[in-house]
Amino acid sequence: MSIPFEVQRNANPMPKAQREALLVNPVFGQNRTDHQVVCTWEKEKGWISAQVLPYGPILMDPASAVLHYAQEIFEGIKAYRFADGSIWTFRPHENAKRMQLSARRMALPEVPEDIFLESLKQLIAVDADWVPDASNEKSLYIRPFEIASENFLGVRATHRAEYRVIASPVGAYFTGGFKPISIWISQKSARAGKNGTGAAKSGGNYAASLVAQSEGYDNGCSQVMFLDAESSTYVEELGGMNLFFVFKDGHVATPALDGTILGGITRKSLIQLMQDRGIAVQERKISLDEVRSGITSGLISEVFACGTAAVITPIGGFKSTSETLNISATEPGPLTISLREELTGIQYGRVQDRHNWMYRLR
Ligand code: PLP
Ligand code: COI
Repeated sequence: MSIPFEVQRNANPMPKAQREALLVNPVFGQNRTDHQVVCTWEKEKGWISAQVLPYGPILMDPASAVLHYAQEIFEGIKAYRFADGSIWTFRPHENAKRMQLSARRMALPEVPEDIFLESLKQLIAVDADWVPDASNEKSLYIRPFEIASENFLGVRATHRAEYRVIASPVGAYFTGGFKPISIWISQKSARAGKNGTGAAKSGGNYAASLVAQSEGYDNGCSQVMFLDAESSTYVEELGGMNLFFVFKDGHVATPALDGTILGGITRKSLIQLMQDRGIAVQERKISLDEVRSGITSGLISEVFACGTAAVITPIGGFKSTSETLNISATEPGPLTISLREELTGIQYGRVQDRHNWMYRLR
């Protein structure tokens, strides 16, 4: 299913000199481009309109369902500028599929894949100048999201929804650059329970992670790690990233997707890249005890986090109220480094894209 996009250009875009100054060293999430995509849906009619509009606030009724019952989902995907100036994105069909999965879980209408892909192309067509050059791994972070927009305070699935796309030029998510970060182990709050919403990319999961995230910041950590809600025994993921553990014998393990963990596209891609190299990757349960003894004994040699925002970020250690586990104090490990080079090489068009993951936007 497809609908035509109507384009209204921003009559007052950011002046070129200001935009270019901002693109030298963009802070993650701080600025937005000149436009946004807005598509609307009604229960009886389906997807009825698709527009590219000047970036600006949303005029909302205070009774809009999303403000009360958190019926919201989102995606994160980046646009990369290749050396020849062309603009590409990474595995957008996967994001489209995941957004549909999130929509089903949160009783929102699924955005058809062709509307999702077209929305990215349309936004880049008007905001192409906002895609930074590839230096320092800069990119344009694109944030597609969907909200329940019906004015109704009864608790039921919305009859009206909006799908929007905004974008923000970004540099590294972690300001310290490619250096190992410390992770806070959340002991008091869980992120997602059995049959809950953990596998959906829904705002509520992130709201639920923020108390632990603040606790982490207070203790000098950059991210928080969640354990399974039922037994607080098994490692799940970070607030906004998946986790990998590299063992001294050469194999790699990552928590299996059991419905409570977000199925990361970076995670899926790294598993493929490692398998291509003949590395055995196990998707399985990993207990905090195994992590503790593996780090203490040296059986675990590297740990890294991954995600669209984080790319691949080395982890130097874990902390909680009762312990500190240190892997490496200052430098990322060799597999962390080489996987990051390969992945970013594909994403910026420097390394052969043998799996056809890159999708041209412009
Ligand atoms: N887990 C969570 C909770 C996330 O928010 C993200 C980021 O999107 C990821 C994992 C990694 O997913 P992806 O690699 O698709 O960005
Ligand atoms: C992403 O990587 O796209 C996310 O949504 C995670 C968040 C930390 C920005």
